[in-house]
Amino acid sequence: MCGIVGYLGTRNAVDVIMSGLHRLEYRGYDSAGIAVVANGDGQPNRLDWVKSLGKLAELDRKLDGANLAGALGIGHTRWATHGTPSEANSHPHFDTSGRIAVVHNGIIENFQELREMLETQGFLFRSQTDTETLAHLIRMYYDGEAAGDLAEAVRGALRLVQGAYAIGVVCADHPDLLIAARQGSPLVVGIGEDETFIASDVPALLRFTRDVVYLENGQICCISRDGRTFETLDGQTAEPAVRHIDWDDAAAEKEGFPHFMLKEIHQQPDVLRNVLQGRLAPDTGDVVLADLALAPDQLKACQNIVIVACGTAWHAGLVGKYLLERFAKIPVEVEVSSEYRYREPLARPNTLVIAVSQSGETADTLEAIRIAKQQGAQVMGVVNVVGSSIDRESDGVLYTHAGPEIGVASTKAYTSQLAAFALFTIYLARLRNVLSADEGREMVAHLRMLPDKIQQCLDQAGIIEQCSRNFKYIVAHSALYLGRTFNYPSALEGALKLKEISYIHAEGYAAGEMKHGPIALVTDMVPAICIAVKGDVYEKMISNIQEIRARQGVVLAIATEGDIKVAQYSDHVIYVPECFEPFSPIVVAIPIQLFAYYIATNRGCDVDQPRNLAKSVTVE
Ligand code: M6R
Repeated sequence: MCGIVGYLGTRNAVDVIMSGLHRLEYRGYDSAGIAVVANGDGQPNRLDWVKSLGKLAELDRKLDGANLAGALGIGHTRWATHGTPSEANSHPHFDTSGRIAVVHNGIIENFQELREMLETQGFLFRSQTDTETLAHLIRMYYDGEAAGDLAEAVRGALRLVQGAYAIGVVCADHPDLLIAARQGSPLVVGIGEDETFIASDVPALLRFTRDVVYLENGQICCISRDGRTFETLDGQTAEPAVRHIDWDDAAAEKEGFPHFMLKEIHQQPDVLRNVLQGRLAPDTGDVVLADLALAPDQLKACQNIVIVACGTAWHAGLVGKYLLERFAKIPVEVEVSSEYRYREPLARPNTLVIAVSQSGETADTLEAIRIAKQQGAQVMGVVNVVGSSIDRESDGVLYTHAGPEIGVASTKAYTSQLAAFALFTIYLARLRNVLSADEGREMVAHLRMLPDKIQQCLDQAGIIEQCSRNFKYIVAHSALYLGRTFNYPSALEGALKLKEISYIHAEGYAAGEMKHGPIALVTDMVPAICIAVKGDVYEKMISNIQEIRARQGVVLAIATEGDIKVAQYSDHVIYVPECFEPFSPIVVAIPIQLFAYYIATNRGCDVDQPRNLAKSVTVE
């Protein structure tokens, strides 16, 4: 949902900002822009800027030969909310004089009334965006009450604003001052020697520093040559903690893979090892969650669980429900966060609300946990990005340790969330005395085998690619994904992966629902991807496959290695290693991801930056 970068230091801000924006392009890529404070050479300093429609490569091209230079600047890569993608609507936005520039991530909800107020006062708008309002408001205060004090002018403007924002502000009159502020949308301040950075997300900074401060809601940071001050909007000094990020710079590079998505798919054996590392006690059948920070007694007292999440994380939550209800014997509901937050839910003090989020910044999920907390529920985050809003606002967090996920389609984050639910299930089940030590030992042993099983799936990437080529012509319009129990969410996730990166319409269904309507869709032009691994519902899936074949449907089965029966009824089979059925969604995820990846790349789609999407949905 837009990436912003800002810099004040000793290097050319253009290089730093463009490097950072490239690392944030996953957040939005319909247009981009940059502005720097340029030396006036005897004249007053000025703001030089370049903007472009389209991806950052376009901005790179325009910058070539543009001679932009300066030690202070801001840049932006956009995911449009207000106003179509166009050069005029791209950021930075300027006040009428062109001496104040603003980049913004978020939505100013009352921008229309602010704009009308400003227009009556003679301010001239050049775009349709909500952001431009901010630039004019800052100017209004700068020339008025703030009397040339930029920080004070920004504070004044922000007091009038309702909505979510992370902003960077520069002014040609102040060549040594960068202002950043945040409410709702994420912003990190990177700390270097004689230089300071701001960015929407840490990967933008890793090339320059790994020491960061996560700006809190309602905080403003004034960055000058003398250092940084952190304050609340009403002027209270804040002393935020500096955190050291242990991801290295390589984590934000493709490292030889053609796409981030493929790299991240292939990282999954290591990711699973990371999630499990130090958390399994094979001898006692226990799981150790030392960093969870929720007291075991509190967890024991919980009588029900509500899982809130969006998209892929919601699918992980559905698997979590199946695991927790079966093994920890606790009632679980799973809700899409955007529904939960608006339907006046009834959380109780003994409800545990689990918020699942890779980014930890998804606006709907963040709001859902705030509502749950107001009602007295305990909140546990299942979060990848340490220091993110959901991390900080949860009572306890189970980190998924997947490392930065750059591809817009979630892959390793999903399997790490599934593994986190498997861990939490054993932990809670043992705590509630509903899982014996022997059963715990067995489940722990199954968990330990997962990284190797994932590797075995990855070793078949060539076969899956081949298979996707067979399917290329038939999946052109629509596809069905079917599964039951633990792999019903796998069907939903398979359909989401295919549609978001290949633009092929796909639906995921609980296979038992087929006869209640969706079977009408089956033709030889609508392939059905059927997850039929060995387990309790295997025979039921075989029946569903036969029903599809009886109607001339085309079946791609995902089945357990050595299963000959499934091959008799299917057009194509992708095999996965034998696996404990409740954990099989973790293994099944690999062929599902690879299949979608190859279909999409065969169709020439940009899998890392699919149309209309952005990685981190920080607006509702
Ligand atoms: O960062 P989050 O896990 O909260 O993101 C939630 C969804 O936006 C995300 O899972 C989305 O559905 C994926 N990009 C799909 O691959």
